[in-house]
Amino acid sequence: MSDRYTQFTNSALGRLLAKNLGLPMPLNLDRYQPGMPVISGAVLLGGAPDGQLTSAAATALNNIQAEVHTYAQDHVSQAVAAAGLDVKVWNHEVDTELRFKALVFDASGITKSEDLVQVYHFFHPVMRKVADCSRIIIIGRTPESCDSPRQATAQRALEGFTRSLGKEVKKGGTAQLVYAAPGAEDQLESTLRFFLSPRSAYVSAQVVRIFPSTTTASLDWAKPLAGKVALVTGASRGIGEAIAKTLARDGAHVIGLDIPALADDLRVVTSLIGGSALALDITAADSPQKIAEHIKAHHGGVDIIVHNAGVTRDKTLANMTQQQWDMVMNINLSSEERINDELLAQGMIRDNGRIICVSSISGIAGNMGQSNYGMSKAGVIGMVQSMAPTLFARNITINAVAPGFIETQMTAAIPFAIREAGRRMNSMSQGGLPVDVAETIAWYASPASAGVNGNIVRVCGQSLIGA
Ligand SMILES: NC(=O)c1ccc[n+]([C@@H]2O[C@H](COP(=O)([O-])OP(=O)(O)OC[C@H]3O[C@@H](n4cnc5c(N)ncnc54)[C@H](O)[C@@H]3O)[C@@H](O)[C@H]2O)c1
Repeated sequence: MSDRYTQFTNSALGRLLAKNLGLPMPLNLDRYQPGMPVISGAVLLGGAPDGQLTSAAATALNNIQAEVHTYAQDHVSQAVAAAGLDVKVWNHEVDTELRFKALVFDASGITKSEDLVQVYHFFHPVMRKVADCSRIIIIGRTPESCDSPRQATAQRALEGFTRSLGKEVKKGGTAQLVYAAPGAEDQLESTLRFFLSPRSAYVSAQVVRIFPSTTTASLDWAKPLAGKVALVTGASRGIGEAIAKTLARDGAHVIGLDIPALADDLRVVTSLIGGSALALDITAADSPQKIAEHIKAHHGGVDIIVHNAGVTRDKTLANMTQQQWDMVMNINLSSEERINDELLAQGMIRDNGRIICVSSISGIAGNMGQSNYGMSKAGVIGMVQSMAPTLFARNITINAVAPGFIETQMTAAIPFAIREAGRRMNSMSQGGLPVDVAETIAWYASPASAGVNGNIVRVCGQSLIGA
């Protein structure tokens, strides 16, 4: 779907006009292409004294061969040297030309609010030294795991800081807060890679929790899903098509599912990616059983289930028919529950398996005319949060994405004025692309994301709606 305004403001004349008139200036976002390094450009790494995650961050940066700089801080230099990285000390008063593609700060050592000034000391000198489409990552301890209320308070405070930086960084930059529970130090890498890379182009101001897991995957990061089987519902078009293509790019065999009326479109997608097509309506009473039978007969089990199929039937509640209510609830929520129940009961989801759901910012903020849709998508969040602990004990994770305004047929049908508002009312001043949702799902799906559980990550460019 075309966004002519973004095309215009990326031309010389458009940029000049938008700047002088004070209009939004959406930047063409960096997006991942196969073969690209995780990050191109300098990274500034820092941390508060006694941080327990600086070494894990330094190791991940070493693994991706990042060009790492630090301030002259002994504890950070030691962690960086121990990870095998060359220590480059940045003196911001002397080297004024350097621009950073990423800023990574380990705040896990902060145990009281007075020490939050460390965050100021790290970020203040560098905020005018970031490149376009930069990445800011703050790493902290899950407040729930802290030893004292004062420590939990300080860690929780990082959330407001991160969300504010997301609004200040501009020029396509993002800011994220990654909380690691004690013992999850070896689970950070897949999440750091995702948030550092252009794969997270339209994800900003998110808070992610990572937990300890006994699964430590050593994998080919270029094909992390090699040998995996993924089921993607609603795969014939839009976001589902992008998910199917992205998981296949990462090495998975994709079973694409869609309604029989779209079987031809579905087959076009699955044949392009060497996957298989399953044409059925997920609301049919026998669909969970049929899905289980298909998986059992052709693959023996499944590693990744992506519940993407979804519909809207927008009306204010006073004008809504029960048929519109039932249809949305059934497709968007109840059939997902029935499919999960059947696959789990039959033991079809393999060890280190993934259930990934597609919610919506309407499920977080609510939306005029979407009481049915908002309810179904909030229910998806409830499903993720309620199932996460028990599934984790079975070495299966469940997470959700909550897209904001994504350029698809669904949003192309929105009236012009509302569509433009949806597109611009976010920190990126533009809509996201289906691939932005798909890349986030691919991060959850990675075998290296075994500790990423129970999260709801918005893919919305930090939309003002429900912020
Ligand atoms: N586009 C956005 O901006 C946006 C924002 C937030 C959330 N979402 C969610 O993302 C998901 C994909 O949205 P999209 O924009 O690609 O929509 P879309 O309408 O282009 O695609 C949805 C797909 O789901 C399939 N589907 C619908 N009912 C089905 C059923 N009963 N059985 C099997 N398949 C069925 C459709 O045939 C279609 O292929 C949905 O869950 C939607 O609610 C989209």
